[in-house]
Amino acid sequence: MTLDELFSAARAAMAKSHSPYSKFPVGAAILTEEGRVFTGANMEVVSFPEGWCAETSALAHYVMGGGGRITDICVTAERLDEITPCGGCRQRLAEFADADARVHLTDGNGITRTMSMEELLPLGFKTEVLSA
Ligand code: THU
Repeated sequence: MTLDELFSAARAAMAKSHSPYSKFPVGAAILTEEGRVFTGANMEVVSFPEGWCAETSALAHYVMGGGGRITDICVTAERLDEITPCGGCRQRLAEFADADARVHLTDGNGITRTMSMEELLPLGFKTEVLSA
């Protein structure tokens, strides 16, 4: 799986977005070291706070599909170049992706910028206390 293919997977997921209220389709694709790809799109609900983000959909598919070590995450939006995951999704992604996982931002043609999970979410909430 090339990064171009990961971008295409995120765009294909975006095409399945259910976003009739914001009209702001978003797609996300998660790649594991085994080469498996899990995608998701944002899903909106007429009771607005009940909707959720593309990254959250992709993470649900990742977990239900068996997970694995995440190497790359690509997020894309139809109407915003270099969309970055929202605060809540940063924390959700950090739950499953290591600090050195790569996060790719895009425009409509491909990946334009890459950063690590740690750069995307510095000082994220972490503690051993809750899992002890
Ligand atoms: N959205 C995402 O899917 N991911 C983000 O990181 C930011 C926002 C969605 C939520 C909502 O459906 C739409 O974009 C507008 O906020």
